[in-house]
Amino acid sequence: STMIFCSASANAGAVLDGIAESGELRACFDAGYMPFEMKSKNNSYIGFDVDLGKMMAKQMGVKYVPVNTAWDGIIPALITGKCDVIMAGMTVTAKRNLKVNFADPYIVVGQSIIINPKLKGEITSYKDLNDPQYTVAGKLGTTGEVVIKRMLKKAKYNAFETETDAALEVINGKADAMVYDMPFISIYAAQNSDKVESILEPFTYEPLGWAVKQGDHDMLNFLNNFLRQIKGDGTYDRIYDKWFKS
Ligand code: ARG
Repeated sequence: STMIFCSASANAGAVLDGIAESGELRACFDAGYMPFEMKSKNNSYIGFDVDLGKMMAKQMGVKYVPVNTAWDGIIPALITGKCDVIMAGMTVTAKRNLKVNFADPYIVVGQSIIINPKLKGEITSYKDLNDPQYTVAGKLGTTGEVVIKRMLKKAKYNAFETETDAALEVINGKADAMVYDMPFISIYAAQNSDKVESILEPFTYEPLGWAVKQGDHDMLNFLNNFLRQIKGDGTYDRIYDKWFKS
């Protein structure tokens, strides 16, 4: 008798084939997440993910195409084929892993905090923020939001669409603190050292990974081998130093 197999592997290689045929590697991200993806003054996209994406496209012999997408729509954008890969500092979480596949983590970060300067000395750990007298700002749909809801249950939470809107809330005093990924907090605090204080030491463990469609083993294999190569030949360190050491 004939057996008919129906599975995700029926589409094996489709995304990689699409990249080769179109000559484009389309990478989804949500700009504003320093230093991974930002919009430069001349309206181009720059950052750690952007440079790594460009390097990947170069090795593939195709063009790097940035696809700037609102954070809450980024997984749907991948699933509906608006991009080939999410390269957006996305934390590998169990919940997201139910919808997408992640390549091996390319960096590990964690949550840290900026506080309004008037709270200096009063807030010395995230635990101090778990109090109804405090308002904490975060970005919609991020792991920062998950952490605020889970670990700072007693505080009031205000959600914002963008990183900068959440951070501004701390500067203008409407929020006492913002909880977000350490690299962003570190750069933001340095750029606004006269307006905010920070507690940088990360209090969560968050591996970041590039995401592909469920079942896309070919793309995953490509990403993991690309990562292994650039980590071994110094390319990763050179790009890392450009964005994280200045
Ligand atoms: N790592 C955090 C998360 O996965 C924040 C990522 C935000 N990325 C961005 N491109 N805006 O939720």
